[in-house]
Amino acid sequence: MSAPGNLPEIDGLRVNTALRFYHEILGLDALHYGLWKNDPFNMEGLKTAQERYTDHLLSYFPANVKVVLDAGAGTGATSEKLKSRGYDVEALSPDPYQKYLFEKNRSVHFHLAKFQDFSPKKKYDLVLMSESCQYIPMDGLFTNVKRCAPGGYLLINDYFITRPDNTPMSKSGHNMDVFFRKAREHGFEIIKEEDITDQAAVSLDLAKNWVDRYVLPSIDLVTYSFRHKHPKLFAILRWLLRGKIRKFNDDLMLLDSSHFKRVKRYKILLFRVPQ
Ligand SMILES: C[S@@+](CC[C@H](N)C(=O)[O-])C[C@H]1O[C@@H](n2cnc3c(N)ncnc32)[C@H](O)[C@@H]1O
Repeated sequence: MSAPGNLPEIDGLRVNTALRFYHEILGLDALHYGLWKNDPFNMEGLKTAQERYTDHLLSYFPANVKVVLDAGAGTGATSEKLKSRGYDVEALSPDPYQKYLFEKNRSVHFHLAKFQDFSPKKKYDLVLMSESCQYIPMDGLFTNVKRCAPGGYLLINDYFITRPDNTPMSKSGHNMDVFFRKAREHGFEIIKEEDITDQAAVSLDLAKNWVDRYVLPSIDLVTYSFRHKHPKLFAILRWLLRGKIRKFNDDLMLLDSSHFKRVKRYKILLFRVPQ
């Protein structure tokens, strides 16, 4: 893993900056919320919670599953774990940076594609969507899982919107009722379901804590001296950047775990895929 300030140059890639930040600066291998118990409220605690989350997912794999597609595979930590447990696993993501990471660090075959556009060359027993379901349009998702794993399983771990409230918090994630309706329409049968909202949302508290302790005071420090030295330029820049400032404030609101719990539920869903 590269040290901050020494990030590898990846020529010609449209790089996902947020992902590089989590992976290369924060040193996170997994990109999901994790499953917290009484872990220390720090980076090490987050990594432990993320390991627990992946182990918990694996406990959902039916005994007859051998061939797995990790759809929306991130940095490949889950794919690697699946492989080490003896599964025949392939990974997929539309992000060239993730392809680069797989080629560099993993021994798992990687498909550069959006799941909804992916043409399977083989039959999988299970399609895994670990916090990637929310990025895949619902109809394309169900249609293509039927092509990839007919008669097999779909395992999803993700948050869903249950009580939309017209705020930015209600923008990411599929609507839970619509998702279940579409699943039924496509012939999917739910066989296991678990709500892990409380154990997942601790990651939001941790992120908020970092922002409050380090990010906001740093911004205050920098802008304070700049505003006093260059008041006119500061006013112009603030006006020019008003869109970005609004977006930043919206993003901060997404770290409010109580609001998250009012609007969303984080679910593990195991579906049987129709033949
Ligand atoms: C939050 S990350 C989760 C990564 C990983 N599964 C994990 O649990 O750490 C979301 C993943 O979904 C992928 N993704 C986004 N849109 C997608 C799509 N249309 N089809 C498949 N994967 C997609 C992203 O590139 C990323 O790998």
